[in-house]
Amino acid sequence: LSLCGAVLVVAYLLGSFPTGYIAVKQLKGIDIREVGSGSTGATNVLRTLGKGPGAFVLLIDCLKGVLAIALVYQLFHLAPVYNLVPATVDANLWQPWLVTLAGLSVVLGHSKSIFLGFSGGKSVATGLGTLLAISWQVGLATAGVFALFFAISRIVSLGSIAGAIAVTIFMIVFHQPLACILYAFVGGLYVIIRHRSNIERLLAGTEPKIGQKGTTEP
Ligand code: G3P
Repeated sequence: LSLCGAVLVVAYLLGSFPTGYIAVKQLKGIDIREVGSGSTGATNVLRTLGKGPGAFVLLIDCLKGVLAIALVYQLFHLAPVYNLVPATVDANLWQPWLVTLAGLSVVLGHSKSIFLGFSGGKSVATGLGTLLAISWQVGLATAGVFALFFAISRIVSLGSIAGAIAVTIFMIVFHQPLACILYAFVGGLYVIIRHRSNIERLLAGTEPKIGQKGTTEP
């Protein structure tokens, strides 16, 4: 049990690693939480520093999610990497729930970082990382929904919210264990709640688009 607790703490700390904050502080000398949307995520890094740093932060934040889930697989001998043990293996029935908790911990860490006074990002990249590690099919399908909505609107938050809604459906479609379906639902809901200010701007028609000069600041 203490090992389970330790895994959750490590997942939270991993999520807490403030990639976007460090990148902007190092490259521009400012606090990213005081510019753009105030989020420390890759989208706001893109706004503040451009495509390269944005992509870098996206990758690292995504990797945090992958690592948190990979740690659970590694420590509790879940195999194969991309699919949880079948639900028919009774002895392992509890393990998918640890994946759920580790996923929620890393996602929480990213948005409520202990290193940033419990502020942070919106957990989209880190959440995607956890999905890719749980089921690459679910991860890719969710990323596809994100990409579709983003391509049409050029609004990142709209893609994120659409992905957060679709992820539960994909968990069901790709026959994932109940624990993972629940993870998708709770995690997806959390991501949507983290987008409260974006939703207000979307409804007001003021949410900034990517690539449009003069509209990058909310
Ligand atoms: O991944 C976060 C994105 O959906 C919104 O970011 O900075 O526009 O609030 P931002």
